[in-house]
Amino acid sequence: MSTPSPESPAPASAPGASAGKPSPGRRLIIAIDGPSGAGKGTISRAVAARLAYTHIDTGAMYRAVAWKALQEGVAGRAELEVGEGIVRVDGHDVADAIRTPEIDKAAAAVARQPRVREALIARQRAMGEQGGIVMEGRDITTVVFPDADVKIFLDASAEERARRRANDSAHASGRDGTAIHDVKSALEARDHSDRTRAASPLTLAEGAVVIDTTGLSIEEAVRRVMEEVDKRSRG
Ligand code: DC
Repeated sequence: MSTPSPESPAPASAPGASAGKPSPGRRLIIAIDGPSGAGKGTISRAVAARLAYTHIDTGAMYRAVAWKALQEGVAGRAELEVGEGIVRVDGHDVADAIRTPEIDKAAAAVARQPRVREALIARQRAMGEQGGIVMEGRDITTVVFPDADVKIFLDASAEERARRRANDSAHASGRDGTAIHDVKSALEARDHSDRTRAASPLTLAEGAVVIDTTGLSIEEAVRRVMEEVDKRSRG
């Protein structure tokens, strides 16, 4: 894999997806954005598994850069490897270490830095431009692949999102029993940062389909996304 370098980012290339009717059998680019706890990870993974596509969690990339910055005191050059269940920084497995409240905050700060974004966006385009991917994040439908074949904005109420995060065993808040109230405050602060930052804020892309997952089962939410994929595959 290529090396993202927040210090000397590669130039961002043009998005690779085409907005035209997909030719039969073409592997699509499926872009999914939304705030924390909207269900992006679970739903994107399930959709990718159904289609035998690659799932790419771009949030893990920002988290990995933040982990490195906390280790070294600055966001410097880092060798990242991000794959299904794999997050390594300079060869260290950080898949668990990046799911803590400290990294939540640091990642939101790192994600405000245009040079970090440029480097990661170039990397994300390179990973996805051949299609056959479900890529999730905050700016995938707006900046990384604005012409993606399928663009989804997943949302849920703040209460529901906090409840999910507080029960998420993959995240330290879910493991150490942090009160929902505290999880909700932290989540709202981070959402505010993600939505109001100057560099590619979280916003609804033109042509994106909004799916509110509040009260939906995972199966139901996956089915709604698959409907959009099927519509697009049929043209
Ligand atoms: O999805 P997440 O909570 O793991 O994301 C971590 C942070 O990175 C969060 O503050 C949002 C930010 N992020 C971003 O700015 N752009 C992306 N494409 C993905 C995540």
